Amino acid sequence: MINKIKDRLRVLRRRLKALKGRFASVAGKLRSREPKAGGHRSNLDEWKQLQNDHYFENHPCYKGISEFGGQEAVEAIQWFLPIRPEMRIAVIGCGFGRETLKLAPLVKEVYGIDVNSTILDKAVAFLSERGVGNFTPVLAETFPQTIPSGLDLVFSIVVMQHLTRDLVRNYFIELGRKLTAGGGFVVQFLDVNTADYEGTDAPEHGGGEPSVSWSHWQLVGLADLAGLKLVEIRTQLVTDVALWHWVYFRKEK
Ligand SMILES: C[S@@+](CC[C@H](N)C(=O)[O-])C[C@H]1O[C@@H](n2cnc3c(N)ncnc32)[C@H](O)[C@@H]1O
Repeated sequence: MINKIKDRLRVLRRRLKALKGRFASVAGKLRSREPKAGGHRSNLDEWKQLQNDHYFENHPCYKGISEFGGQEAVEAIQWFLPIRPEMRIAVIGCGFGRETLKLAPLVKEVYGIDVNSTILDKAVAFLSERGVGNFTPVLAETFPQTIPSGLDLVFSIVVMQHLTRDLVRNYFIELGRKLTAGGGFVVQFLDVNTADYEGTDAPEHGGGEPSVSWSHWQLVGLADLAGLKLVEIRTQLVTDVALWHWVYFRKEK
């Protein structure tokens, strides 16, 4: 009798151990799908190389550094909120200053973030030649230390699709902390038909200029991760197969 009980106990212990192992492996898988806030995966070096190889000058759409568009930035922001002269704005991926040229005269200060001095020097030259005196260039690697708190708005166009998801999350978390209460993000994301949302990300190396899609529900998760209120997502069909989602996330307090 005692032996029988001992046998059963041994079997039960073995089952418990197996269950624990299975639980640990499922928990591990779930954890690996959780968004990482620290910016672990990064394609920053890839972009530094693209800029050192004169990205805008060689790009088939940009065809060099010149004044075009830009006004669409002002219009996109005004869909969601009024632009006020006392505002301090951060522009993620400012490039040579195309949209900053239109935004800077309407606000107090623009912090333009980009990957290295090759492109930031071009932005400073492009903007100062056109009379913009309230632009501060900021290196992507040091933006959390360089940009002061008290931002009213974070803006970005044609940038999020070119970054790893970790870098995007890091921008929303770090710049979200610098927003004043009532301040917000107006940022454009790409969403291409047939996107594999969970399975895709920008390669860290050798990926050139990637195109990463974000679904509506991933954007809901992004706002939540950064502690921001998702006020609205406005969607445009930009080609037969691509949508642009414009998010407006606000810091409530
Ligand atoms: C397609 S361009 C768009 C530039 C500008 N927003 C425009 O519409 O003219 C993408 C820009 O994002 C910049 N970029 C790439 N990775 C970045 C990062 N991690 N942080 C900030 N900017 C980045 C690139 O250097 C480039 O200037």
